[in-house]
Amino acid sequence: MLSQLLPNRRDFPADDPIFALNAEAQSRAAKGESVVNATVGALLDDNGQLVILDTVMELWRELTSKEIAPYAPIAGDPAYLTALVRRYWPELSHHGSGCATPGGSGALALSIRNFLEPGQALLTLAPYWGPYATIALENGAHLETFPYPEPGHTLDSMAFMQKAETLIRHQGRLLIWLNDPCHNPTGRSSSPASRGAIFEALRQLCHLGPITLLLDLAYLEYTANPGDVMAALQDYATFAKEGKVLVGASLSVSKSLTLYGARAGALVFPWTQDAPLQAALAMSCRGIFSNAPRAPQSLIVKLAKDGKAQARLADEHRHWSQKLQVRAQALSDSLRSEALPGIPWQGGFFVTLPADHPKAVADRLKGHGVFVVPMPEGLRVGICGLKAEDTPRFAKAYKECV
Ligand SMILES: Cc1ncc(COP(=O)(O)O)c(C=O)c1O
Repeated sequence: MLSQLLPNRRDFPADDPIFALNAEAQSRAAKGESVVNATVGALLDDNGQLVILDTVMELWRELTSKEIAPYAPIAGDPAYLTALVRRYWPELSHHGSGCATPGGSGALALSIRNFLEPGQALLTLAPYWGPYATIALENGAHLETFPYPEPGHTLDSMAFMQKAETLIRHQGRLLIWLNDPCHNPTGRSSSPASRGAIFEALRQLCHLGPITLLLDLAYLEYTANPGDVMAALQDYATFAKEGKVLVGASLSVSKSLTLYGARAGALVFPWTQDAPLQAALAMSCRGIFSNAPRAPQSLIVKLAKDGKAQARLADEHRHWSQKLQVRAQALSDSLRSEALPGIPWQGGFFVTLPADHPKAVADRLKGHGVFVVPMPEGLRVGICGLKAEDTPRFAKAYKECV
């Protein structure tokens, strides 16, 4: 009956597939079975408990009623937007044009509404974070993909150029989502050469129509090499300042501050102060969710004024980055012990393992009590929830099932 009422929803799965897998893993564990659940998308400690950054919660507890209860400005508190942007580009004194959004998801959705016409496609690299497809669909768009380079390879510049050119010639405009650095789900970052290939293609295509390059920055605090992350951000800033392509960022405090449930993020264009763009973003906010939650905005503003809290937070990020690095290394070593190739990790909560028939392999792994998320390009393994001591069992099962 419902499908008759909502005819455009007929193809939607009843359950989010990742939630369904996670629920199955948890229910088997609750019955006493020993399971390895690598489907989780939040950072867990080695006891399986959600990691919540102490520094952030201390600041949260200090918030006053007036920092929580009133509506935030429609486009967000400008001090919040600037503070968030300065976490990644500290040299900037202003956030440019932008608005606060409910999480990075809200920012991604708003980018479609403002930079594509209904029915058009946005371009991203595959594999990608699964909800990209849902966010696109829900906002009247769809995804076109280009392969994420294999480890040690550079993005195929000619093929990327062709793909982007076909789209921009067809649509008259182009929106690209680039989840870089610290990509979900490969756990890798674009090499300088791959970034350069993308920049060069966009430089050559920008005369065909407006191009928006949106960086989806969700996992930058969790990396083996903070210096590489900063270098990538500087590359993007330099490209943005050329002024040929509109460069923006989808920002989120979900992973970065472990404030998943606070639903705070931002869509920002730090190198552009443009009144019509600002007005359009504010209009989108008003029309979709009115304004984003006040409390996390107040918290970020507080954090930006508190050097000691920033130092404590940096220590916590370092600690958890090291934990993720240990887990990734343990997984790689365990795979090698099974005579399989290791897996590189540069940042974020996941790695992707190869599989010719990912769904079938994931199903077989369940028979070994091991849960992963199948994607068309392989298996998403959440090292954010995978203990180092479970990696030998994981690798053995993977070898048997793949
Ligand atoms: C790649 C990527 N982008 C964006 C997000 C957005 O998260 P949120 O809407 O919670 O800020 C996530 C969350 O998992 C993600 O993995």
